Amino acid sequence: MSEKLDFYNSLELTLLEAENLIADGVNNSKSLFHTPVLSTFVNKTISTRTVVLREFNAKKRILRFHTDNRSGKIDELKENSISSIHGYDPDLKVQIRLKGKTYIHIEDEISKNAWSQSREMSKVCYSVKDSPGLKISSPESFDIVKEEIDIELGYENFAVLLFCYDSLEFLFLKGAGHRRSLFDWSSNQLKSSWLIP
Ligand SMILES: Cc1cc2nc3c(=O)[nH]c(=O)nc-3n(C[C@H](O)[C@H](O)[C@H](O)COP(=O)(O)O)c2cc1C
Repeated sequence: MSEKLDFYNSLELTLLEAENLIADGVNNSKSLFHTPVLSTFVNKTISTRTVVLREFNAKKRILRFHTDNRSGKIDELKENSISSIHGYDPDLKVQIRLKGKTYIHIEDEISKNAWSQSREMSKVCYSVKDSPGLKISSPESFDIVKEEIDIELGYENFAVLLFCYDSLEFLFLKGAGHRRSLFDWSSNQLKSSWLIP
């Protein structure tokens, strides 16, 4: 975060600050925006989980995540793509909330590229024998032994999630006065406003 807090009273700079923080989260594992929370619908309830941010395109307003295509969230997202992302960094005292839709990519150009850019340690978990979330009698037999698998076969279980947002809410906590603002692209044109914190 910029030391001078130039964004403090500027909507324009607040949006840039938010985009910079999300972008930093891609490679900075110490940033809490590296592991935001993705929420989706399960019928009429809400399901939330931590995911690792793999890529951010501020211009297109897209965040990329990876998951196992056998996991519960895939069916949830096929049923209803409406979703949200939340992140809070207590050191920066910044919360970012994004609202949008998540699109699934399995065995297409997007998933192929993402898989080829993934490191071995990330690919390994896609070789787990059965669907994540399945009830099992004991966990040991599902531990992955690297020497016994062909890591590349995990691709058949791999999925890319592209989260596209049209609303970004930024909250900055500061003793002298909190700052909360909303950036809304739902009418295809950016509308920025301050909100009472
Ligand atoms: C630090 C951390 C990072 C995680 N990263 C991912 C991830 O990138 N993708 C993923 O599908 N699950 C990830 N998980 C596991 C999910 O939080 C969740 O438990 C799992 O995806 C099953 O969710 P579901 O049953 O809603 O599909 C991560 C968990 C933690 C604690």
